[in-house]
Amino acid sequence: MLALCCMSAVLGFADEPAVVFTPRQQRRILQHSPVPAVPDDPTNDWDRDPAAAHLGQALFFDAGFSRNGQVSCATCHGPMIAWTDAQPLATGLETGTRHSPSLLNVAHQRWFFWDGRADTLWSQAMHPIEHPGEFDASRIEYVRRIHSDAAYREAYESLFGPLPPMDDEQRFPRDARSDSPAWAAMAETDRDQVNRAFANCSKSVAAYESRLRSVESPFDVFVEGLRQDDETKLAALTASEQRGLQLFVDEAGCRQCHSGPLFSDFEFHNIGIPTGHGGAPRDPGRFDGLAHVQRSPFSAHGPYSDDPDGARARRTASIVQGQEHWGSFKTPTLRNIERTAPYMHQGQFDRLEDVLAFYNTLEDMQLQDHHQEMVLKPLELTDAQLADLAAFLRSLTSPLPPKSLMGPVDPRTGKPPSEPIEGP
Ligand code: HEC
Ligand code: HEC
Repeated sequence: MLALCCMSAVLGFADEPAVVFTPRQQRRILQHSPVPAVPDDPTNDWDRDPAAAHLGQALFFDAGFSRNGQVSCATCHGPMIAWTDAQPLATGLETGTRHSPSLLNVAHQRWFFWDGRADTLWSQAMHPIEHPGEFDASRIEYVRRIHSDAAYREAYESLFGPLPPMDDEQRFPRDARSDSPAWAAMAETDRDQVNRAFANCSKSVAAYESRLRSVESPFDVFVEGLRQDDETKLAALTASEQRGLQLFVDEAGCRQCHSGPLFSDFEFHNIGIPTGHGGAPRDPGRFDGLAHVQRSPFSAHGPYSDDPDGARARRTASIVQGQEHWGSFKTPTLRNIERTAPYMHQGQFDRLEDVLAFYNTLEDMQLQDHHQEMVLKPLELTDAQLADLAAFLRSLTSPLPPKSLMGPVDPRTGKPPSEPIEGP
């Protein structure tokens, strides 16, 4: 165990005043590192299966599933920019109303999307396919493409067993979007088969996404140094970064919400940031997200989950929607924040400095009504302190995952394709 109780760590450099962390600050700092292994997802029996991850990686980078053949998951979650798109609002077939989050370390989350309208990583992956602004495709055409492509079909069937006979267009009509009369007219068992195959593909995509880890930052080396009382490791953070860290865990109150190793409580808050469109907020956030996830057939308690009675499922079922959820959004992780500009659910802020300026003054804060939590107070930090805080946040940047995860692969082998993967 640690011998932190009776000493204050004095960490400094010859030419700068030393940073002295109190024992309480040290205990708080230790809570932010290391990042544990990715938790198992019992709702997805394939989440650790390497072959599923290969299929998922191929699907992730394949634009052939979108209506215009040009949009893939990587369009908005580009590996070269930390699996995000550097735009305020995402654009697939149309421009949407929310900002694309980074997918680094995404498998640690318990709710997905800014409003948490998916409760598993695999069910999240189904949404973009049918979203009119993203892929604008349908699950039936998605599964048909898997069926008609030899490489996909082989990879799929070796994992999940036979696909439904998608070439029977009487039973599986073309263009039977899941909101259309043609879909409603299909036999229930056929709809179920399509849903299951679509869910299986999405479980493969989730198996790939759960490998997108980026967790070893200078900050983590520093924390190791604190644990081991190792001066070389403690030097991983400059004096300015250490002063920023001290503000973060104490005076600035950031850890109330940006807590734990991922710097997020994974809960929803309304921090009243000015809207991207000007004027009052229109986005209900968690209020609608909760209603959606509770009635979705693809939720953790639904028939396509591999653990419908488990903890995740019980949590989804037990939350009661309340007015306090209106306008609240999930606390984002702060790891790799330097790479994921712009910031907030509408990409309202271009730079980290702009985010900190908001917390510092709460200027233009959008107050709603008495339901809004009032945790935030203007920080009133000096410019030098704000610079320290920004420097600390930039010390949360880690090496990106291996190159082998950064591009399209052959769905059967996980190797870069020697020739383009054939379309249908
Ligand atoms: C048109 C751009 C676009 C495309 C294409 C797209 N996404 Fe996203 N993604 C977004 C946006 C925007 C959000 C946040 C939306 C929201 O909260 O309502 C998001 C959210 C997510 C999240 C939740 C992350 C979190 O922190 O909650 C995951 C995971 C994700 N996308 C994976 C995927 C996968 C897998 C695909 C392909 C099947 C995909 N995305 C396709 C834009 C896109
Ligand atoms: C009451 C909870 C809460 C507190 C306290 C808080 N934050 Fe946040 N933070 C959030 C939420 C929620 C968001 C997303 C808000 C949105 O998009 O509507 C966010 C967004 C951010 C972002 C943008 C992240 C991104 O990827 O878009 C940064 C950076 C950030 N906070 C840093 C801080 C710092 C630094 C502090 C301390 C000065 C702090 N936060 C205090 C809840 C909080």
